[in-house]
Amino acid sequence: MTAQAVTSSAHHQDAQREHVKALLRRENAVLVAHYYTDAALQSLAEETGGCVADSLEMARFGREHAATTLVVAGVRFMGETAKILSPDKRVLMPTLEATCSLDLGCPADPFTAFCDQHPERTVVVYANTSAAVKARADWVVTSSIAVDVIEHLAAQGETILWAPDRYLGHYVQQQTGADMLLWDGACIVHEEFKAQALLDMRHVYPGAGILVHPESPAAVIALADAVGSTSQLIRAAQNLPHQQFIVATDKAIFYKMRQAAPGKEFFEAPTAGAGATCRSCAHCPWMAMNSLELMARSLENGDQEICVEPDLVIAASRPLQRMLEFARQHR
Ligand code: 13P
Ligand code: SF4
Repeated sequence: MTAQAVTSSAHHQDAQREHVKALLRRENAVLVAHYYTDAALQSLAEETGGCVADSLEMARFGREHAATTLVVAGVRFMGETAKILSPDKRVLMPTLEATCSLDLGCPADPFTAFCDQHPERTVVVYANTSAAVKARADWVVTSSIAVDVIEHLAAQGETILWAPDRYLGHYVQQQTGADMLLWDGACIVHEEFKAQALLDMRHVYPGAGILVHPESPAAVIALADAVGSTSQLIRAAQNLPHQQFIVATDKAIFYKMRQAAPGKEFFEAPTAGAGATCRSCAHCPWMAMNSLELMARSLENGDQEICVEPDLVIAASRPLQRMLEFARQHR
């Protein structure tokens, strides 16, 4: 790009930001963005009094904020969760097409049949699921609270049916020793991180810490200095003594990691190696769909609104509220 083209594109983005800010004010709306969205959206959320957070905190923030419209920059299950917790608010997304491989890989009917085959088990689902799947669950958890909730249930002698992420399920099982039956789902982004290539990379950066989201394969988790949800990884980047980090999660999180730990260096963990190629290459293709342009269009037209059937709102809010109440009491 020529210098002139760069300047003109920067002017265009500035104008678009101002336009979205004005629309947010006009619509009495607040922006709730996930760490995996574009840095331009994360900084806009910060500048306009919204929030940038992990999926647990997004849910809480949206429920507690006074705005009448929530604009959720993330993926569909995050918009649905916001709607379930705040049914009287309008919930818009830049695009309703932004979904998640875990949600897609766990359709409500086969999941219900799976639960029906194991009626003695407590059903715990990850937040990355549809409203219909949540409605069938006893508990919803996010990655930041999964270990604590399962530990609590196992201490009461409960056996668990877990869905949909088998990697996170396996990690939680290892951490808690709970009896867990796992659904066979995976995140297409985290599943691609490669342990051998990560070991090779550690030889190149011997002083680097390794940060891993627990949706990654067990062999990758085994190499980690810290394992956790997105916000837990950001805190680890801040608190661990390392000056360099290799990070096995979506690279859009670097925006917040650099803010939290200025001066430290961050590298993407390898998603290819030994002849393997990556499809999503450490960036979620659905998170990447969120843009300033689509956000402006959604606020103008109101056509990317999340709607959840009222009976599903009632049924899915029970396990979600249970998680939020647990978080309130145990944190
Ligand atoms: P967090 O709950 O850690 O933000 O994770 C959400 C997610 O989709 C990770 O891939
Ligand atoms: Fe789903 Fe993975 Fe994208 Fe997270 S990163 S939204 S788990 S596909």
